[in-house]
Amino acid sequence: MCGIVGYAGCRPALNIVVDGLRRLEYRGYDSAGVAIVDGEGDLVTEKRAGKLANLEKALAEDGATGLAAGMTGIGHTRWATHGGPTDRNAHPHRSADGRVAVIHNGILENFARLRAELEAEGVEFTSETDTECAAHLLAAELGHLTEHTDPAERLAEAMRRVCRRLEGAFTLLAVDNLAPGAVVGARRNSPLVVGCGEGENYLASDVSAFIEHTRDAIELGQDQVVLITPEGVSVTDFHGTPVEGTRFHIDWDASAAEKGGYDSFMAKEIDEQPQAVADTLLGRHTENGDLTLDEVRLTDQDLRDVDKVFIVACGTSFHTGMVAKYAIEHWTRIPCEVELASEFRYRDPVLDRSTLVVAISQSGETMDTLMALRHAKEQKARVLAICNTNGSTIPRESDAVLYTHCGPEIAVASTKAFLTQLVACYLVGLHLAQVRGVMYADEVGAVLAQLSEMPAKIQTVLDAMEPVRELARDLADAKSVLFIGRHVGYPVALEGALKLKELAYMHAEGFAAGELKHGPIALIDEGTPVVCVVPSARGRGVLNDKIVSNIQEVRARGARTIVIAEEGDDAVAPYADHLIYVPRTPTLLAPLVTTVPLQVMAGEIATARGNDVDQPRNLAKSVTVE
Ligand code: G6P
Repeated sequence: MCGIVGYAGCRPALNIVVDGLRRLEYRGYDSAGVAIVDGEGDLVTEKRAGKLANLEKALAEDGATGLAAGMTGIGHTRWATHGGPTDRNAHPHRSADGRVAVIHNGILENFARLRAELEAEGVEFTSETDTECAAHLLAAELGHLTEHTDPAERLAEAMRRVCRRLEGAFTLLAVDNLAPGAVVGARRNSPLVVGCGEGENYLASDVSAFIEHTRDAIELGQDQVVLITPEGVSVTDFHGTPVEGTRFHIDWDASAAEKGGYDSFMAKEIDEQPQAVADTLLGRHTENGDLTLDEVRLTDQDLRDVDKVFIVACGTSFHTGMVAKYAIEHWTRIPCEVELASEFRYRDPVLDRSTLVVAISQSGETMDTLMALRHAKEQKARVLAICNTNGSTIPRESDAVLYTHCGPEIAVASTKAFLTQLVACYLVGLHLAQVRGVMYADEVGAVLAQLSEMPAKIQTVLDAMEPVRELARDLADAKSVLFIGRHVGYPVALEGALKLKELAYMHAEGFAAGELKHGPIALIDEGTPVVCVVPSARGRGVLNDKIVSNIQEVRARGARTIVIAEEGDDAVAPYADHLIYVPRTPTLLAPLVTTVPLQVMAGEIATARGNDVDQPRNLAKSVTVE
C-alpha cells in the first residue's frame, strides 16, 4: 500500500531511489514519483500516473536534468486512496511555495478539516489528495521556525509539529530545498525502516528497497520522527524527545529479491516452496520436541491457561487460519475460531487473558490485522503473530512471534507465504498440544516427521505440473470456475478461487462441497469447470465418499470436473475429466500439496489472458489502510 524510499548520501540519489521503488512496486503501482534536492538547493520533482516504467520513461525523455545531480531524494509508488491515479495526484506533493516535497503512505483521517483550514488561509490545492495538506502544513511550520540555525533540525522539528496535528495512519517523508542533505520521516501505524550505510542512509517502507546497499537497519516505533543525513540518523518522538530505534541485521541478500531467470516473481516463489517449507521447519524443535518461538514473551503456563484460540487474518492468510483451525482443535482440543481481521473487533468478540489470539500476516503490516490484534490486547488476550517480515509492526506489538522463513515474497498474490504459514500453524498447534499434555512427545515427533517429508512431496507436485499448465491454457476463456472441497480441502478451494480472481480477473468461487446442494449447484451449466479438492480416502474415508458423490452431482449437471486427489485414489477416476494426483499425505497436512496445482493453474491462466501476474490490477501486497 504505497512504497516509500528516501536517500541522503554521497552518490546521485535518483538511481538509488528509482531502484528502491522498483523493489517496492509490489506495494502499489497506480503512479510513481521522485523529488531530488541538489547541492545548489534546487528541488526537482517528476511524477507520472501508471507503473514505475512510465516515470522511468519520462525521466529518460527529460534527460533527468537537475534530478541527476542531487544526492538527497525521496520516491513513491502509489496505491490510490484519496484522489484517482492521475499525474496530478501522484506523489511527491509540493507546498505552494515549492519549498518542500512530501510523500505519504496511509490515510490522513482529518484531512478534510485541515484542507478547509488551509483553503480559508488562501492556500490553493493542486490535487485531490490528503497528502497535499501535509506539504502545505510543513512549509507553514518551516516558515515559523526562523530561530533554528541547523536546516536539517529545523525540518525535523517542523515535521514533528505537523505530525501532532495529523490523525489517521501515515508514513511521511519530506525534503526541503533549504536543507540539502536531509530527509525527514515520520510514522504512525504505517511502516518505515531505516537503512544504515557508510556516509549514506536510507528510509523505506521495507528493507528490500535498500538491501543491495546495506543489511544494517533500524526499526522505528510508533509516533516517531527520524532524520537522516549522510552522516547520521536521529530519532525522536513527536515531541522531540530522543529515542533509540532497535537495530537489526537483515539475513537475506539482494538476490533473494530478484527474479533469477523466471518470467515472474510468482513463478519463482511457487518453485521456492519446498525450500521455504524446509527453512520454516529448520531449528524449530529441541530434541524433546519443544517448539522454539523466535521471540517469546509467553510462558508455558500462559499457554496452559489458554481456553480459546482466535485466529485473525486477511486474504490468503485468512485461508491459512481456516486450515489451522482443523489442526489446532484436533490436536489440542481447545476451541478455535477463525475470523476475518476486518470483522473481528467490530463484532465485540468475547476475549480475556486466557484467550490466545493468533494474528497471521505475511507482511506484518496489514492494517485490519494490526487493529484486530490491538483490540485483542486491550481485552488482555495474549497475541501470537505468525509473520514473514522481520521488523514489521504486527510481530513487534505481539506477545510472541513465529517467523515463517520463506524469504521476501514479492508477487502480490501470496504463494510460498501461504505454505509456510501453514507450517507455522501446525507447529503452534503441536506445541500447544504438548505443553498442555494432550499429545505426548512421541506423538508430536510423529507429526514432525511427516512435516519433514513435505518439502520432497511439494517438489514432486511441482515436477508434474506440465499437464496442469496445458489444462490452464485451455481454461483461459472460461467465464467462471468453481472450486469445491471438504474439511481442510474447503479452505484450499477458497484459496484456489482467490488466486484465480486475483490473477486472472475471472469469476471464481470456492464452496464447502456439502453446501453445493443448498444453492451453488444452480451455477453449474454445460461445461462449467469445477475444481474438486478430494480428501484422502485413507484418512477420512467418509469425507472421500461424500465428495465423490458431490463430483457426480456436478458432473450430472454438465460440469467439467478437475479433480485433485491423492495417488492411488481410484474411486474418483471415473468422474474426473481431468485428474491431478498429489502424493499421499496425512489429511491435516494435505493443503501443503493440494494448493500447489491451484497456484500454478491460476498463474498460467493469467499469463494466457495477458495479465501481469506479479502486479494484478487494483491490488497491493501490503494493505496498510482499513
Ligand atoms: C493483500 C494481498 C493478499 C494477502 C493479504 C493479507 O490483500 O494482496 O495476497 O493475502 O493482503 O496480507 P498479509 O501480509 O497480512 O498476509
